[in-house]
Amino acid sequence: MGRTEKRLLGKNAATIIETMKKAYCDEMRIFHYFWYVGINMEGIGLITYAAALKTQATGELLHGELLANRISELGDRAPSDPGEWKQYSTIGPLDPAKHLTLRAALDRALEFEGKAVENYNGLAKKALELGDFVTYNLATTILADEVKDEQHTEDILKSLEVK
Ligand SMILES: [Fe+2]
Ligand SMILES: [Fe+2]
Repeated sequence: MGRTEKRLLGKNAATIIETMKKAYCDEMRIFHYFWYVGINMEGIGLITYAAALKTQATGELLHGELLANRISELGDRAPSDPGEWKQYSTIGPLDPAKHLTLRAALDRALEFEGKAVENYNGLAKKALELGDFVTYNLATTILADEVKDEQHTEDILKSLEVK
C-alpha cells in the first residue's frame, strides 16, 4: 500500500480487503460457471446462447482482475487456492454441470447476479463509510455491471416464457 493511503485508511483497510476477497472468490466461481456452461450447454441454448455466456464469463473474469489489483494495492493478495474460493464465497454450491440447459443456467445465474448486486452495494457503502474512495469507485463500477447482468438475465428468462 502506498504510504499515504496506508496512513489514511489505517486499520480500515483490513475490513475492505476481507470483503473484496469474498467478492473475488465469487467472481472466479461465476466466471467458471458461465465459461463451462457456455462450452457444455445442452439443447437449443447451445446454438442460441452459448457464445453470449462465454462473453459474460469474460466480464466476470475482468471483475476478478479489478478486485485482485485493488487487493494487492492495499498490500494483500487475492485468494489463490481454488479450494478457498468455495470456502469464502457467498453464493453457495455452484456446479455448472448441474445447470446445462438454458433455463436452468439462467435461473441459477439470476440468483447469483442478485447476490452480486447486494454484495457490491454493501462494499460501496462500507468503502464510503470508511473513507476508501478508490474502492468505492471500483465497487460502483462493478455494481453497475452486475445490475445490468441481473436485468439482462431476467429479460432473457422472460422471453423464454410460453405465451
Ligand atoms: Fe461480476
Ligand atoms: Fe455478473
